[in-house]
Amino acid sequence: MAWVIEHELPDRRPLPSDAADLDALAQAITNCDLITTDAFMADVIKRTRLDRRHHTELFSGRRRDVLRLIDRLRTLLAGHNQQRPHQPRGGNPPMAENDLHQTAKALVAEGKGILAADESTGTIKKRFDSINLESTEDRRRAYRELLFTTAGVEDYISGVILYDETIRQSASDGTPFPQLLASKGIIPGIKVDIGAKPLAHAKGETVTEGLDGLRDRLAEYHSLGARFTKWRATYSITDELPSDYCIWANAHALARYAALAQEAGLVPIVEPEVLQDGTHTIERSFHVTSRALDAVYTELFDQRVDVFGTLLKPNMVLSGYDASNRAGHDDIARWSLECYYKHVPAAVPGIVFLSGGQSDEDATANLNAMNARGPHPWQLSFSYGRALQAPAIKAWAGKDENVPAAQRAYYHRAKMNSAARTGAYAPEMEREAVPA
Ligand code: 13P
Repeated sequence: MAWVIEHELPDRRPLPSDAADLDALAQAITNCDLITTDAFMADVIKRTRLDRRHHTELFSGRRRDVLRLIDRLRTLLAGHNQQRPHQPRGGNPPMAENDLHQTAKALVAEGKGILAADESTGTIKKRFDSINLESTEDRRRAYRELLFTTAGVEDYISGVILYDETIRQSASDGTPFPQLLASKGIIPGIKVDIGAKPLAHAKGETVTEGLDGLRDRLAEYHSLGARFTKWRATYSITDELPSDYCIWANAHALARYAALAQEAGLVPIVEPEVLQDGTHTIERSFHVTSRALDAVYTELFDQRVDVFGTLLKPNMVLSGYDASNRAGHDDIARWSLECYYKHVPAAVPGIVFLSGGQSDEDATANLNAMNARGPHPWQLSFSYGRALQAPAIKAWAGKDENVPAAQRAYYHRAKMNSAARTGAYAPEMEREAVPA
């Protein structure tokens, strides 16, 4: 909570007693049904939404609240037992294991992770530009076929996220991609957001769109074979950004998407990505990622999402890509874990990282460093796009004769990341089976 005082209430000079007061408040709020406090602390609680998260009634020292408190106490004293029944966070009773829970668990099965092959037409064009290849629909199809038919990769890949165009395409032998994947025991998924668009009245910030008509689209994707979904929100780090407005607008949309996905029988992957471009320190990345995750879980619970049937796809906590003295693997693991331990409920079955522009080997080494510090309450796995595909796309270069080399490159990265799931990866392994 200290950052709330520092960043959100800059007019209020910190007092020496703040740290102790905040500690006492954090303790009290998890144990009390009703809290009275001064106006300043009430602001802190409201901004962190701690009262809503812990189902605590809040009364500040303001006159209006004092009158409300007197009324409340009178009611209690009069013996009218009108106290709200205590509800578990999220308001839902414990749920029996269901299909959503099972799918979420299968996606983070031992030694396995997810391939994100859901680049939009614009993004895959950028990837093809890097190998000087024109992006046509059939080349995009051929490239995805190369990935999906890689022999044996199902030992390391549990699911593949598809794009709207891809889920409707087929392999050369006519088998639709979702069926091809399912026949190998790989679960087909689908990206359902339609991208990050400028957020009104918030220069430099975005909100992810795609909620209109989503219920119908989800039903269609389910009928095409998808069993899980993804929605990505993005936040930039500067000295001032992201704003609370951007964080809460995106959290709200992520939760609306997640609730609709569960209603349609699809596991939502919730992806709040704090972009790591810039010169920020790892501490700043930690604070921003913490704020983003805190808002996401507040909204998910408020919107009645069953978090046992979800996966989180966050950024790792990194120094900015252009920062000097960038943190190494151990520090990244330490800061990242501290952030998730504080902000991700243990009910979430798995955290499946995005690679977000890290090199493929860095993404593997950082995942490994986190798992080496396990066991953790959640599975820590991968849902990489670039970090699984970069060497494959380079090896392919758009040529049929390079398909086997590209498949070896993809298989190799999948195998390395599988090793990183147990902390068993070592950089020397990169040389063992590197494709010819
Ligand atoms: P990267 O691993 O390339 O960041 O892609 C993952 C993803 O799905 C982003 O939404």
